[in-house]
Amino acid sequence: MRIGLIGTGRIGTFHARTLVAEPEVSELLVTDVDAPRAAEVAGDLGATHAPSPEELLSRDLDAVVIASATASHAGLIQAAAGRGLPVFCEKPIALDLPGTTAALRTVDEAGTLLQIGFMRRFDAGYVAARAAVHSGSLGRLHTVRAATSDPAPPPAAYIPLSGGLYRDCLVHDFDALRWVTGREVLSVYAAGSDAGPEMFRDAGDVDTAAVLLTLDDGVLCTATATRVNGAGYDVRMEVAGEKDQIAVGLDARTPLTSVEPAATPSKGTPWPGFLERFAPAYESELAAFVRAVRGEAPNPCDGHEALAALRIAEACELSRLEKRPVAVAELA
Ligand SMILES: NC(=O)c1ccc[n+]([C@@H]2O[C@H](COP(=O)([O-])OP(=O)(O)OC[C@H]3O[C@@H](n4cnc5c(N)ncnc54)[C@H](O)[C@@H]3O)[C@@H](O)[C@H]2O)c1
Repeated sequence: MRIGLIGTGRIGTFHARTLVAEPEVSELLVTDVDAPRAAEVAGDLGATHAPSPEELLSRDLDAVVIASATASHAGLIQAAAGRGLPVFCEKPIALDLPGTTAALRTVDEAGTLLQIGFMRRFDAGYVAARAAVHSGSLGRLHTVRAATSDPAPPPAAYIPLSGGLYRDCLVHDFDALRWVTGREVLSVYAAGSDAGPEMFRDAGDVDTAAVLLTLDDGVLCTATATRVNGAGYDVRMEVAGEKDQIAVGLDARTPLTSVEPAATPSKGTPWPGFLERFAPAYESELAAFVRAVRGEAPNPCDGHEALAALRIAEACELSRLEKRPVAVAELA
C-alpha cells in the first residue's frame, strides 16, 4: 500500500514513523509546506519526499494521512476525496461548522472513507471504561468527570491557529464522553480563564476552561482543561455509577499528590506529553485505518463523529462568550 502523508510537524512525524513500520505500507510519501522539514523526515525514515501536497496527491496512492495545520484539513480532505482516496485526518476537520459540513459533503458524495484521529478511542483505559459502561457493571451512571491538563503551553505560534482550547483540546474529551457513554450532549455551560500566560490573551483564547455538560439521559458531566499544569501531563476520566466508579488515566504516572498522611507516595514519572501518553493509541488508530482501507474492518471513527464533537466545542465558545447555558441544538 502506498500512503501519502501531508504535514511533518509534531504529530505528522510520529505518524510517519508508525506508517513506515506498518507491514502493509510498501511506500510512504511525505510533504509539508516547510519543504526542508519534510525532506529531513523523508531522509530519516527512508520515505519519498514530494515537493507539495498537490504533487503528492497526483501520485499513484492508495490512501492519504493528513497531519498538517488545522486550517488546511478541509481543503486537503476535499482534494483527496475528490480523487477517490481514503483519508485519515487529524482532528479537527475545520474550525467551524460550515467548513466541516462542506468537507463531509464531498466525502459523502465521493463515497470515500474518512477516519478522524480521535485516538482516545484506541487507548486501553478508555476502551475499558466504555466496556464497563456498556456491561452495566457501574449501574446507572450519575456523574462523569473528564480532564485534560497539558504540562506547558504549545508554541505561541500554534495558539492563534488552533481554534482555541475547546476546539483544539477539550474536543478530545467531548468525543470521549460521547464514545464512552454512548449518549449525546444536550447542553453545556462553559467558563474560561485567560489569567495565565499573556499569549493566550493575545490570541483571544483561554489557558484554562471548565464545562458542565448534560447528557440526553440526564447524566451530568464536567470537563476541564488547562495548558499550564506544571505537575505534568494529566488526562483522566472518572465514570461514576450507582454501583461502582472507575477512572481512566489514574496510575503511578498520574501527576497528582495526595496530602493524606496514610497515602502511599506515587513513584512514577509523569508522562511528558500526548505523544508519549498516547503512543500505542496513535499506532493502533493508523493500523485500524490500514485495515479499513483494505476493506478488512469498518471505519472506527468517521467524519460525522468529528462534527458532533465540534458542535459541542462551538456551544462551549458561545456559552463562554455569552455567559449562559447553551443547548447543542442551537448549533444546528
Ligand atoms: N490527535 C491528537 O492528539 C493531536 C495531537 C497534536 C496535534 N493534532 C492535530 O494535528 C495537526 C497538526 O498539529 P501539530 O501539533 O503536529 O502541529 P505542528 O505545527 O507541529 O505541525 C504542522 C505542520 O503542518 C505543516 N503545514 C501547515 N499547512 C500546511 C499545508 N497546507 N500543507 C502541508 N503542510 C502544512 C506545517 O509546516 C507544520 O510542519 C493539528 O490539526 C492538530 O490539531 C492532533
